[in-house]
Amino acid sequence: MNTIIIFIIFCFCLCIQTHHASSSSSYSISSSESKNIFPKEAHPTKSGYLPVSNNSSSAIFYAFYEAQNSTLPLSKTPLLIWLEGGPGTSSLIGNFYEVGPWRITESITLEPNPGSWNNYFGLLFLDNPIGTGFSIASSRQEIPTDQQGIARHLFAAITSFLQLDPVYKHRPIYINGQSYGGKFGSTTGYYIMKRNAQLRAPQRVNLAGVVIGDGSIELKTQLGTIPANAYYLGLINEKQKNELEKDLLEVVRFTETLQWGKATDAAGRLRAVLQNMTGLATLDDYTRKDHPYHYEDWVTKFLNIAEVDQYDLLAGPVQIEACVKLFKWEGIEDYLNAERKIWKVNGELAGYVQQWKSLTNVVVLGGGHLMPADQPLNAKAMIEDWVLQRGLYQSV
Ligand SMILES: *[C@@H]1O[C@H](CO)[C@@H](O)[C@H](O)[C@H]1NC(C)=O
Ligand SMILES: *[C@@H]1O[C@H](CO)[C@@H](O)[C@H](O)[C@H]1NC(C)=O
Ligand SMILES: *[C@@H]1O[C@H](CO)[C@@H](O)[C@H](O)[C@H]1NC(C)=O
Ligand SMILES: *[C@@H]1O[C@H](CO)[C@@H](O)[C@H](O)[C@H]1NC(C)=O
Repeated sequence: MNTIIIFIIFCFCLCIQTHHASSSSSYSISSSESKNIFPKEAHPTKSGYLPVSNNSSSAIFYAFYEAQNSTLPLSKTPLLIWLEGGPGTSSLIGNFYEVGPWRITESITLEPNPGSWNNYFGLLFLDNPIGTGFSIASSRQEIPTDQQGIARHLFAAITSFLQLDPVYKHRPIYINGQSYGGKFGSTTGYYIMKRNAQLRAPQRVNLAGVVIGDGSIELKTQLGTIPANAYYLGLINEKQKNELEKDLLEVVRFTETLQWGKATDAAGRLRAVLQNMTGLATLDDYTRKDHPYHYEDWVTKFLNIAEVDQYDLLAGPVQIEACVKLFKWEGIEDYLNAERKIWKVNGELAGYVQQWKSLTNVVVLGGGHLMPADQPLNAKAMIEDWVLQRGLYQSV
């Protein structure tokens, strides 16, 4: 079986940021008090727990929404897996704030999301790693601390999901990782390819593509672009740029000596200094002057009752472009020389698409770190055109 995995990056993170959804809240979607706030139509098609191994009670929480308007038989309808970043952020943020069929409003109610990604695709949200959101870690020791461990758990969870219903079994799977989830998604994709090579055809996972959305995938390279990026945006002056560059050297020193804890702290300091210098509400979107994203408080409140994103200062187009150059892939030269095309949605400029064979990089104009929340309709057009290989997104 010769499968070509297609790969897309869209710009919008940095692992130095940890957004935590409340993990102590009770997610009881059938309780009477939640009836009004959580309408029946908004319930997932299926939700529950997926084991991560045979000898432990640790399990990954999932919420699955079947495609609303698939033009294919369900057994052939693509399945999109959503992994949030952090590490330690619940994928229910992606569900209720970004790409799920129902999104949360300022008054903490739900409304249908015009940018939902489950029009043509089944949408599966996984709280990863165990211990995150509603996922269960039966002990601290079982929480994976490396990408290999994460990939092993996700592989087990995905394969047990596929066994829940015969109609899931052979659907093409696309793994979407946002922010630090870009690491989870790409390492899991790689792990699946390696496992598939050892498995008999009926047991393979039908991986079709990997998405890195506003990826926070390479700390040193991504941070390295920040001082100049902020300077040329006019957000800081030259003296401040030099100061940031000094802080940056410290991060680099720690990453080169593999002192990840210290590197994370130093990166956090750099971020705090930059935020202080600029006075921005959030570095995830430099156009937000007075209010940051509300996903954390809104989604937490709610659950307690019941490409680049162009404006992303930390994992925006500049940071992603710097990372892509490092890809060890035989097509990278051709990709770098490929024409960057103007992308329009309904006649309006939506962003830019650069593509070579299986690699596509999209810059979404007017997006911050949570791009699908900022540009719901263009995000939906992007994912649908890429998965269905339409228009500009057709692989050459
Ligand atoms: C549990 O064991 C069975 C039988 O050996 C195996 O097929 C399955 O993949 C295992 N599940 C996990 C989650 O490791
Ligand atoms: C479960 O079994 C695997 C493989 O035998 C082993 O590596 C792992 O440590 C075990 N986990 C627990 C929690 O006992
Ligand atoms: C499915 O189709 C209906 C009818 O055209 C439309 O109202 C709805 O928004 C579609 N669902 C999604 C997720 O796009
Ligand atoms: C940011 O500014 C505040 C108030 O001026 C100060 O207390 C804090 O130490 C500064 N933080 C950093 C990292 O510079």
